Order: sequence, then C-alpha cells, then structure tokens
Amino acid sequence: MSNLATKKLSGLLLKQLGPHHLSSTSAFHTSISNATAENSKPMITGLFRTFILELRNHSTLSSDELMKPVQTSSHSAQGKSEDQKDQKAISSYWGIAPKKLTKEDGSAWRWNCFMPWDCYKADISIDVKKHHKPSNFMDKFAYWTVQTLKYPTYLFFQRRHVSHVLLLETVAAVPGMVGGMLLHCKSLRRFEHSGGWIKALLEEAENERMHLLTFIEVARPKLYERALIFAVQGMFFNAYFLTYIASPKLAHRIVGYLEEEAVNGYTEFLKDLENGTIENIPAPAIAIDYWCLSPDSTLRDVVTVVRADEAHHRDLNHYASDIQCQGLELKEAPAPLGYH
Ligand SMILES: [Fe+2]
Ligand SMILES: [Fe+2]
Repeated sequence: MSNLATKKLSGLLLKQLGPHHLSSTSAFHTSISNATAENSKPMITGLFRTFILELRNHSTLSSDELMKPVQTSSHSAQGKSEDQKDQKAISSYWGIAPKKLTKEDGSAWRWNCFMPWDCYKADISIDVKKHHKPSNFMDKFAYWTVQTLKYPTYLFFQRRHVSHVLLLETVAAVPGMVGGMLLHCKSLRRFEHSGGWIKALLEEAENERMHLLTFIEVARPKLYERALIFAVQGMFFNAYFLTYIASPKLAHRIVGYLEEEAVNGYTEFLKDLENGTIENIPAPAIAIDYWCLSPDSTLRDVVTVVRADEAHHRDLNHYASDIQCQGLELKEAPAPLGYH
C-alpha cells in the first residue's frame, strides 16, 4: 500500500473515532471512574461540580461548543444575540423555515434531535426483575449467547458504569434500526402493512440513541474505548443483520435478553449511586427535557428512567419473539407503539 493510501486510511479512521475525543487535555474526557476517585479530593470535586453545572447549562448538540465550555459560558449577552442573528441569517430558496418552539415555561426549545412532542414521563413502575425463562433450544441459545457476550464487558469495565453504558448504548441502538429497516424493505417488497412494527422498532432505536446522547453529557469515552465501540459496532451490526434475516424470532429473543442485562447493569449503577461510590451529579439538561424531569433532578433520576426504558425494550422484544414463536408474523399483532 502506498504512503498516500496509508495516510488517507488512517485519516479516515481517526475521523470516525471523532476529532473532539483525541485531546487528552479536555475536561470533558473526565470519566465517571475519575469522579468516583474524587470523593477524597474536595478541591477537584468542586471543580468537577462546577464543570458539570457548566456542562448541564451549556450542553448543546454542537461538538465544537462542547469542546469550548468555558468560552461558551463567558459569552456576553451581545455575543449571544450576534450568534442568534447569524443563525437567522441562514436563508434558502427551498422555503424551509425552522419552527420556533418553546418549552412550557416559555423559554426557547434548544434541541434539534428531539422535539417537545417526543418527550415523555417514563413509567418507572415497570417490573425490573422480570425474566423470560428459556424454554426451548432457541431461547437457550439466545440466553447463553448474551451471557457469553456479557462477561468480557463486565471484566473490562468492572464498576466504570458510564463507560460501560456508553458501549452498551452504542450496541443497543443497532437492533431496532436493523429490524425496522428489514421490515421496511419487506413491507415494500410484499406490498403489505407492518402492523406498526417498523415504527416501533425505529422508536426503540431512537430511544436508545437518546440514552447515548444523555450519557455522553456525563462522561466522554477515552480513545481506546471509542476504538472498541468502533470495532464492536462493525461486528454487531453485521451479525445482527444476518441473524435477523435468518431468524427474526431468534434476533428479537437475543435483544430481549440483552435488554434484561441492560436492566441489571443499570440496577448496579443505581446501587453505586446510592451508596456514594459514584457521585450523584446533577442531571444533564438534555435528560431533563427528554424525560420531563424536574430541574433539580440528578444522575440517579436519569439512570432510573433509562432503566425503565430498557425494561420496556425487554418486553417489546420478547413479545415480538413470542408472536413469531406462535407461528404468526409480526404484522398480525399490532405493535406497542409509544411503549416507553
Ligand atoms: Fe439504552
Ligand atoms: Fe434498551
């Protein structure tokens, strides 16, 4: 391979890993495991808390702004109004004008990745201990596949819960999109309805991505963790795609068990928050808006609602598998749309 080709390839790889994660000096690279160790360092804890509050108040969708929290916070009111003018100055002859949305309290809606009508209050009364007992060969295969995949990640991350959930969420957001895409293509090929399952699976994928966008406001993965995520996504996407084509009921059963493990993982996370091993920092602004949380919510509240979401995904996927195990197609049973 020529030098030029090697350079291009390495450039592409670094681009995929994300430019804003390559600097080790950014405070945003502080992981939650560091936060844990800071219990004994009040001064650093104070700085960390200040930083988190800044992050909470100024977290946006812009990775460039995320890299410059201090500069963002020191903008004068005049600077902000100039920024707004710049945004308003964007014009196009396509006739598309962004809607001006406000929150219930009248303040401007600051997110583009989700809208006020996408927000909801999580049903945290859901049973987080429910388990589908493997009853046939397929169930056992799905269960042991997940158990086998689980242990290396537990060994690797141990009690570094935020790093662990960042990997988990990048994986968990894949099945809904793959399943939704394949059902979409099937619906087109066969000229038939999907029973709402395309939308339900895409909703799940989007919900998982919101989990990721939330935890990325709490801690940034280190470069080697991003490399791991990159590799895992490449393998998992293709493996799940092929599994779904071969046997959708097996694919949904595997996801059902993955979600059970996600619930268990968040339960451990909650335990460490409750016993003080992990600092219960204020909830990120994006989480407060997405789950309609109160403004003084904390990381514990966020983990509680995310765990409830995972329990809903668990039920949805086991249900999808059950439908097909009974010899029916998904389209024959209405999908639980908006099931959070
Ligand atoms: Fe999730
Ligand atoms: Fe999930």
